[in-house]
Amino acid sequence: MTIRPYTTTDAGVPAPSDEFSLSVGPNGPLLLQDHYVIQKMAQFNRERVPERVVHAKGGGAYGVLRITEDVSQFTKAGLFQKGEETDLFLRFSTVAGELGSADTQRDPRGFAIKFYTDEGNYDLVGNNTPIFFIRDPSKFSDFIHSQKRRADNNLRDHNMQWDFWTLSPESAHQVTFLMTDRGTPKSWRNMHGFGSHTFLWYNAAGEKFWVKYHFKTDQGIENFTDAEAGAVIAQDADYHIRDLFTAIKNGDHPSWTVNVQVMPFEAAADYRFNPFDLTKVWPHADYPEITIGKLTLTRNPENYFAEVEQAAFEPANLVPGIAASPDKMLQGRLFSYPDTHRYRIGANYLQLPVNRPKAPVHSYNKDGAMRYSNPGDPVYAPNSANGPAADPSFFAGESYQVAGEIIRSAYRKHAEDDDFVQPRALWENVLSDTDREHLVGNIVGHASAPEVTGDMKKRVVEYWTNVHKDLGHGVAAGLGLA
Ligand code: NDP
Ligand code: HEM
Repeated sequence: MTIRPYTTTDAGVPAPSDEFSLSVGPNGPLLLQDHYVIQKMAQFNRERVPERVVHAKGGGAYGVLRITEDVSQFTKAGLFQKGEETDLFLRFSTVAGELGSADTQRDPRGFAIKFYTDEGNYDLVGNNTPIFFIRDPSKFSDFIHSQKRRADNNLRDHNMQWDFWTLSPESAHQVTFLMTDRGTPKSWRNMHGFGSHTFLWYNAAGEKFWVKYHFKTDQGIENFTDAEAGAVIAQDADYHIRDLFTAIKNGDHPSWTVNVQVMPFEAAADYRFNPFDLTKVWPHADYPEITIGKLTLTRNPENYFAEVEQAAFEPANLVPGIAASPDKMLQGRLFSYPDTHRYRIGANYLQLPVNRPKAPVHSYNKDGAMRYSNPGDPVYAPNSANGPAADPSFFAGESYQVAGEIIRSAYRKHAEDDDFVQPRALWENVLSDTDREHLVGNIVGHASAPEVTGDMKKRVVEYWTNVHKDLGHGVAAGLGLA
C-alpha cells in the first residue's frame, strides 16, 4: 500500500487542513496567522508570468537529433558529426494569437529547437516557412503590432494587416505562403521546419560556408482548407497541442529528415539573390538539399508551465563551428531573445531545467533574483587563482572581413533581387491548380473582412498583380473589383 503524503506549506511544514481557514469560532473572522492559507492565495496571485509577446500559444516535446552523414568538411560543430546523437527540446507555436488562442488559425508556425550539445546549448529558432515578412529588424515591432490588436477596440483588424503588407512589398513571398493552405497546417507533425536564416558554418581547418537548414516532415505535408481550419477552431482550440501530445503518448514518434543547403563562402558576394535576405530562398537548382540526419520527438513534457511556458530559445546560442551571418534580421534577433527572457522569466532563466545546458557552465555571471547555483571564488577574470579562462581558439574560423560606411540603407541589390520574383516562381512553377484556387480563395476571404476598405481592396489587388497577373485577376474578381 502506498502511503499518501501529507500536505505541507512550500517550506515543508505540515498543513493542518486543505478545506478550512483558521477562524475565530465557526463563523468568525479569519486570522492573519494562517500562514498556510495566506501562502496559497499569495502564490496563486503570482502564478502567471507574462506570455511571450509573440508565439504565445504553443506546445513542445523532447527528442533526439541523429547525424547519419559526414559533414565535417563543412562544420566542426560536435552535434553535426556523423554518428552523434544530441538531446533536444522542440517548441511549436502560432505567432500572433495570445496564450488561449486557437491552434488552427491562419498563421506561420514556430519551429524552435534547443539542442543540448556537449559544447553548450545550440538554439535554432525557426518557423515552418523558409522566409519571413520583412528583412530589417527595425520593422519587426511595427509588423507585429499590425498583426495583433487595434488600440481603440482591441480587435484584430485585416485592414491594418493589409495596410502593413501592401506598404511592405518585401512581405509578398511570406504572405503568399501564409495564404496558401500551408498557412493552416493539419498538425505540427505534418509541416516542415526551417532555420530560415542563413548561418555561417566553419570546419576544423577554418574554411567557411553559408548554410540553410530544412527539416522535412516524414509524416508528409497535410493542411486544412480554410473552412476546415475554421471548423476545428469551433471544436477544439487546442487541436495541435492535443495531436502532438497524444501521438507521442501513444508511441507514434514524429520525425523530420534534416537537410542543409551549403554555399561556398566566396559565392555569396555575387550570387544572383542576396543570400542573407530573409525574404528569399536559395533555389534548389543552385544549392540542392543535402540530407545529414534525422530529428525525432520521443517524449512529452511532464509539466507544461515548467517545461514549455518557461522554455527560452535564443538565436544567439551558437556553438563552435556555427556562427551568425550578416542577415540583418538574425543580427536583430541575437539581441531580442535574451532581452525578453530576462524580462519574461527572470535574469536567471538559463538555470531552469528546460533551459539549463547539459555542458558544464563556468561563467563569472552571478547573483540576481532566483539564482540557484552561483560560481565560487574567484569571482572575476583575469585572476591568478586558477579560475576558468577563455580559450581564443574557439573563435578561430569564425572571423571574416567586413568593411563599409556606417549608413541606414536597404541591402545592396544582387542581380535578380526583386520582391516578387520568388513568390511568382512559387505561383508559376510549384503550386498545383488546386493550390492556386485555394490561395485566391483564402486571400479573398481574408480581404473581405468588413473592416477592409474599398481603397485597401484595390491595394490588395495591386499587390497580388505584382506577384502574377492571373493571381491579381483572381483576387480582383473575388473582391468584386474585376
Ligand atoms: P523547387 O521546385 O526545387 O522547390 C520547390 C519547393 O517548394 C520544394 O522545396 C517543395 O517542397 C516546396 N513546395 C511544394 N509545394 C509547396 C507549397 N504549396 N507551398 C510552399 N512550398 C511548396 O524550386 P526552387 O527551389 O527554385 O523554388 C521555387 C519556389 O518554391 C521558391 O521561389 C519558393 O517560393 C518555393 N520554395 C523554395 C524552397 C527552397 O528552399 N528553395 C523551399 C520551399 C519553397 P515540399 O513540397 O517538400 O515543401
Ligand atoms: C519568439 C522577437 C523574427 C521565430 C519571439 C519572441 C520575441 C521575438 C521577443 C518571444 C520570445 C519569448 O518570450 O520567449 C523577434 C524579433 C524578430 C523576430 C525582434 C526580428 C527582428 C523571427 C523570425 C523567426 C522567429 C524571422 C523565424 C524564422 C520565433 C519563434 C519564437 C519567437 C519560433 C517562439 C520561440 C518559442 O517557442 O519559445 N520572437 N522575432 N522570429 N520567434 Fe521571433
